[in-house]
Amino acid sequence: MHIVPDRVKQGSTNIIQNMDDWRRVHLSSMSDPDTFWLGITNELIDWQTPPTEGLVGAFHSIADNQVSWFADGKLNATISCLDRHLLTHPEKTAILWEGDEPDDVRAISYRQLHSDVCRFSNALSSIGVGLGDRVIIYMGMVPEAAVAMLACARIGAIHSVVFGGFSAESIANRIEDSRAKVVITMDEGLRGSRKIPLKNTVDEAVQSVSGIETVVVLKRTGGEISMTEGRDIWWHDICQNMDDSHEAVIVPAEHPLFILYTSGSTGKPKGEVHVHGGYITYTAFTHKTVFDLREDDVYACVADVGWITGHSYIVYGPLANGATTFMFESTPLYPDAGRYWDMVERHKINIFYTAPTAIRALAAKGDNFVEKYDLSSLRVLGTVGEPINPEAWDWYYDVVGGGRCTIVDTWWQTETGGISISPIAPATPVIGGSATLPMPGISTALYNAEGQRLIGPAEGLLCIEHPWPGITRTIWGDHERFVNTYFSTIPGLYFTGDGCRRDEMGYHWITGRVDDVINVSGHRMGTAEFEAIIIEDEAIAEAAVVGFPHEIKGQGVQAYLIMKNPSETYSEDLAKRLNLMCRKSIGAHAKVDYFCVIPGLPKTRSGKVMRRILRKVAEGDPSNLGDISTLADPSVVEAILTSKRY
Ligand code: WT7
Repeated sequence: MHIVPDRVKQGSTNIIQNMDDWRRVHLSSMSDPDTFWLGITNELIDWQTPPTEGLVGAFHSIADNQVSWFADGKLNATISCLDRHLLTHPEKTAILWEGDEPDDVRAISYRQLHSDVCRFSNALSSIGVGLGDRVIIYMGMVPEAAVAMLACARIGAIHSVVFGGFSAESIANRIEDSRAKVVITMDEGLRGSRKIPLKNTVDEAVQSVSGIETVVVLKRTGGEISMTEGRDIWWHDICQNMDDSHEAVIVPAEHPLFILYTSGSTGKPKGEVHVHGGYITYTAFTHKTVFDLREDDVYACVADVGWITGHSYIVYGPLANGATTFMFESTPLYPDAGRYWDMVERHKINIFYTAPTAIRALAAKGDNFVEKYDLSSLRVLGTVGEPINPEAWDWYYDVVGGGRCTIVDTWWQTETGGISISPIAPATPVIGGSATLPMPGISTALYNAEGQRLIGPAEGLLCIEHPWPGITRTIWGDHERFVNTYFSTIPGLYFTGDGCRRDEMGYHWITGRVDDVINVSGHRMGTAEFEAIIIEDEAIAEAAVVGFPHEIKGQGVQAYLIMKNPSETYSEDLAKRLNLMCRKSIGAHAKVDYFCVIPGLPKTRSGKVMRRILRKVAEGDPSNLGDISTLADPSVVEAILTSKRY
């Protein structure tokens, strides 16, 4: 157990300073959530019509109606992120950006960011984007990605950022599902001196679907691309004669701010919808509280805006809090494994937020990449995205933090909008591997598979009992799927899909997904998405994909294949072909690590695949397969156990 050093506590104005505060604040958020959250939102957020209503609806009634927060209030989230800061600190750096090359640095003040967003808001309006329209953003990590998001929000349009690693097919699926009419992209992305053909990929996507009227293209590398007359327009051209002031469109609190697609255990990715009022309140509150944000902090989250972490903790939370938020275009290994720490030294970063997969990869490169740099500016270190193993945690704490910093292991999801279980710096005593305690407003509960609630120290399915402002409101275009996905496993509660152990102190230890979602280097993917692609191949009769523990990536991907022709065995050609299909269909981050040809899947007599067996074998833990007596053909287990993986 690590108690936070006093040095870290000096100067903190956090509403939670110690565990007594934590108990008091958490209790008040539970006993009277409306008063609690109305108080928080009126303090942290600029409302044009301040809300008087708190929560309407409850999880048990979600099938009929929506949960809403602050429903009688009116605002535009970007006013809190931009306009109001012009009155107090217009020249403060809003976005501190470092490009692919370390000497490519831009500091954009709140005044500048405000004008950039206003100009682009006017530009979007000029091409006919209006209230409620959907806009796809497919860009690298450049400040204009944040400008594009904020400009959409400012005019009441709904952005849907697609991570730059996704394929044309994935973009096309998102265009179709959201019925977007505009795509904002750039010529090429730049990562580790490698060029990523973003515009070409958009061209391919847009050709295969209908509905896209305009593609706006930011020039980043000047690489050669083709511009389609009448459809494509350069960012700099469209902005040229635009006014740099723009009156934000005021929307009701529950107006959608964005859609972000995320993978589930079945079917196509789900478009999670977040709304102006609740989302901006929750991200501002959690960002300020968890990281113990202080006025002059340089805050750095090195995630990508293509994921929820980038939305909540690079763009919306930090800007709502008037912070200096760092944005990073490159990779932690370019030009070498010291890049993060070099940036911490040069920019005097105080708060640094990354993923366990990056920590493990960097720890493997040795301590001297860290020790070369002066990291004395660091005060709070954060991790997110997957369980962090104690060795990686210790390395982060000792080598990066020098034993002087607090570590916040933040558990949350695309669906929760913001951090939901986490230490609060510097109040919560931390232990490596535990996300510790729920945030104010969050009441966790553990259930067993039979639907019984577990009391005291226990391990089970992680659920959340009551709505909080940041919860996703629906799945775009499919509320029924929303209800079925999250509220049917344990009726009346939000089921996270994660397993969790709660210890004697009430601390939470996330054990990972218990559904068919895998987490590879912090990238969330559905095993069903892989399977759907693999069975398209003419040689494959059936396939089952599972995750297995991977030293660096957290999880790796293993595919079990049943060949149409039983005499056909594994070949490198087959593996290459299947991986190419996954890459083309999902994106560059979707790769099968191991293939395993087996004679048949372990199916029950009712035809259900017993995935547990495949998972256990892939994990290298076949000793305890549990009850296999319901299998239609128990002999396949022997074949699976003896099959080789390539
Ligand atoms: C899943 C959500 C939250 C932003 C990034 C991922 C896993 C997330 C932790 C953590 C253990 C974690 C869970 C969760 N996860 N944070 N601190 N400890 N596991 O968002 O892509 O929606 O994935 O990531 O399994 O369900 P996401």
